[in-house]
Amino acid sequence: MIDLQTRRPELSTARLTLRPPEMRDAPRLAELANDFDVVRMTGSMPWPYTLADAEAFVRQAQDDARADEAMFCVELPGAGPIGVIGLDPDGVMALEAGYWLGRPYWARGYATEALSAVLDWARDGWRRRCISARHFADNPASGAVLVKAGFLYTGRVEMRPCRARGEDVASRWMIWLA
Ligand SMILES: CC(C)(COP(=O)(O)OP(=O)(O)OC[C@H]1O[C@@H](n2cnc3c(N)ncnc32)[C@H](O)[C@@H]1OP(=O)(O)O)[C@@H](O)C(=O)NCCC(=O)NCCS
Repeated sequence: MIDLQTRRPELSTARLTLRPPEMRDAPRLAELANDFDVVRMTGSMPWPYTLADAEAFVRQAQDDARADEAMFCVELPGAGPIGVIGLDPDGVMALEAGYWLGRPYWARGYATEALSAVLDWARDGWRRRCISARHFADNPASGAVLVKAGFLYTGRVEMRPCRARGEDVASRWMIWLA
């Protein structure tokens, strides 16, 4: 557990700003996330994804009681919010990385850039040494992002619920050590 100021930093990368989500971000986040090809690759996002869902996400990110997680709005200067990235407990031993970007912003290296910045901060700002991630086996793009950011496959594959698809999906565990 860390203090709020440390847990809610603003991080800058070469092209992006990662900052605490605010309620004014909710309409754009809802617009971008209301895309089945986004939500079907996540465990917990619903389909359809509404403004109320985005507002609930922001409220959760701002909840001081959730002291063991850190959520960032990924902002592209000039374009506004383009997605979300964060860390929360994986329920086993580590913090788990999760992220999504709106479709117009895919395939430009933004997810790798954002994840690398979050890992640097988790190590240097939060003093965390171990981060996990799970990606659905039918999501090789996320696997590529995780490999580029320095994660390794553990070999563990398990069925995980996907809320948007309404079914369990094979999910590959990965790990990153500082
Ligand atoms: C996964 C996601 C975050 C990737 O974001 P992005 O900004 O496009 O990622 P990057 O550009 O940093 O890197 C994507 C990599 O995936 C690779 N890739 C894309 N589609 C691929 C595919 N079908 N098979 C294999 N690799 C693929 C790209 O070539 C790139 O790797 P490279 O730089 O070595 O060429 C984005 O597609 C997304 O938000 N998807 C929906 C939500 C999601 O999947 N979240 C993650 C849940 S675990």
